[in-house]
Amino acid sequence: MARSAALIPAAGRGERLGLGPKAFLPLGKHSLLKHVLLAFEGEVDELWVAVSEDMLAEVEAHLLKGTRVIVGGKARQETVYRLLKASSADVVLIHDAARPFLTKTLIAQCLEAAEQFAAITVARAVADTLMTKSKGEIIDRSSLLAVQTPQGFKRDLILKAHEQALEQAVEATDDAALVRLLGHTVQTVEGNPWLNKITTPEDYALAKALEMSWQHAH
Ligand code: CTP
Ligand code: MG
Repeated sequence: MARSAALIPAAGRGERLGLGPKAFLPLGKHSLLKHVLLAFEGEVDELWVAVSEDMLAEVEAHLLKGTRVIVGGKARQETVYRLLKASSADVVLIHDAARPFLTKTLIAQCLEAAEQFAAITVARAVADTLMTKSKGEIIDRSSLLAVQTPQGFKRDLILKAHEQALEQAVEATDDAALVRLLGHTVQTVEGNPWLNKITTPEDYALAKALEMSWQHAH
């Protein structure tokens, strides 16, 4: 059986939300980071978290037994690259700490798809009408998907993609995009609104309001 790992970038400063690192923020009974770890518990062989240096002391209270911690980089891409080098798993699922509403069912689906296709991302259809900022032109939303996480990869492939990105000074907020630059296709796994990233104060307020119904439904 292929060895699997969850890689959780949590080293961001949460500047747009303005309440410190998002990983430590409470949501119901747990922090965002702990919600994510609890979802991955039992589904993967290794749990890896990357935090910033000044988060190292506080992170201990948010970990599960066996979770491994490293120091992340200045940008998310650098953080993920460090996580990829730290783990030796065959298949990795990369998931933002800022997306706490994650199910074990989705994780299992992503793992299976990642083993089969070598590169997958969770993504969902866009519901709003989309237009360009500059000219107000409407973009056909049926051709678009909003990218979420988890994203899953054979580790060899995503490591190669990150190394090429480094060489070519390509920066992306999305790991699957780096694999696509290698000429490799990325399969999609159906996402959902629960997986939207908590980015702004409004997103956090919504997440807190939704947490009760999440507990009932899962
Ligand atoms: N992240 C990381 N290392 C960085 C930057 C971001 O591990 N140097 C992580 C964040 O902790 C988060 C995920 O990447 O789990 C998505 O990033 P984002 O939503 O942008 O979080 P922050 O960078 O913390 O927020 P902001 O951009 O508002 O400062
Ligand atoms: Mg950021």
